[in-house]
Amino acid sequence: MQTMMQTEEVGRESFLPFALPLIGEEEIAEVVDTLRSGWVTTGPKVKRFESEFSAYTGGSHSLAVNSCTAGLHTALTALGIGAGDEVILPTLTFCATANVVVHLGARPVLVDVGSDYQIDPKAIEAAVTPRTKAIMPVHYAGQSCELEAIYSLAAAHELAVVEDAAHAAGTTYHGIKIGADQLSAQYPELRRATAFSFYANKNMTTGEGGMITTADDELAQEMRVLSLHGMSKDAWKRYSNSGSWFYEVVSAGYKNNMTDIAAALGIHQLRRLGGFIQVRRQIARSYDEAFAGIDAIQTPVTHHDRNHVYHLYAIRLDLETLRIDRGEFINELRKLNIGSSVHFIPVHLQPFYGDRFGYKRGDLPRAEAIYDSILSLPLYPGMSRRDVDDVIAAVHHIVSTNRR
Ligand SMILES: Cc1ncc(COP(=O)(O)O)c(C=O)c1O
Repeated sequence: MQTMMQTEEVGRESFLPFALPLIGEEEIAEVVDTLRSGWVTTGPKVKRFESEFSAYTGGSHSLAVNSCTAGLHTALTALGIGAGDEVILPTLTFCATANVVVHLGARPVLVDVGSDYQIDPKAIEAAVTPRTKAIMPVHYAGQSCELEAIYSLAAAHELAVVEDAAHAAGTTYHGIKIGADQLSAQYPELRRATAFSFYANKNMTTGEGGMITTADDELAQEMRVLSLHGMSKDAWKRYSNSGSWFYEVVSAGYKNNMTDIAAALGIHQLRRLGGFIQVRRQIARSYDEAFAGIDAIQTPVTHHDRNHVYHLYAIRLDLETLRIDRGEFINELRKLNIGSSVHFIPVHLQPFYGDRFGYKRGDLPRAEAIYDSILSLPLYPGMSRRDVDDVIAAVHHIVSTNRR
């Protein structure tokens, strides 16, 4: 009886989605202006977005692309990654991080994460072989991974670094933004690029879209040419340009460019990003406080030397204390009309990666244990105080009614 009454009080009438973008009137007006301008593909708004993104992150070069996946792929290609090469990345990531390595004929070497869910520098070091060419760290959930250790390892072994910053627009490490030149200033020889995502659920969105930043002039130029069919007019100076219609194809490039329609959204989302992050932090603080006393729940680990922009708020269940597993916990939330998700199913547990590269359960035990017990709660700037309270009440209710 007690339980039923609580369920009635706790459940929502309408479904609370796991994630929603927050698009304002400025974005809408800018998109309409683009549509009326007659220039809808890559043009002046992409240029503006790139230069404002560089000013925001402190990365000398910003290249707008149509997804983070395209950005990661473009960066690896420009760095010369190909058949026979190995690229080290964490298994606790979205499949795109590994897929792009496979697209290039290289081998993704999946490594374990630490208790903060970030790639473990010791695991990277143990995985380096003479075939290793690059490291792809992922800034999980919107908090930086241990960059100092990663850059220093990369420099020592002469490896490139392609940072998957899909979650990390606005994230800082030692007070410096992810994507900034300054982050790796101590390692001037290091070849490094950073790829951001503006997918619909990210901290800022262009619908679909991404940005690559780098301090490296040559790498920037190669990525720009590669991102548009490998076509060069004046980009590579050794080729002459005999007229505006004339171009030369200097590599078999891709079609990865961003449209001005997407950039129109991005320009205004970027201006609002600081405010979005503030609200995300407030919601995270509410969750932290509400779950602090619950032994069945571990809240996200934070580090004092970096900020957290809370793209995700992943809680970890102590399954020993509960009668239900993580999947059932998600079902219970759904019954109470609350969406949630899991970040991530480790890549090494995906059938393709097992079949092609021989990975299996047991290979990367920390990521597996994390995967078995985590779920991500709704957290986005459009949530009302009531929405946040509903999530808190639902989690409390599920824990208290399912204790062993
Ligand atoms: C860690 C990570 N990397 C890469 C991506 C791919 O981003 P996009 O959808 O912009 O290609 C995502 C998308 O969710 C992601 O979470």
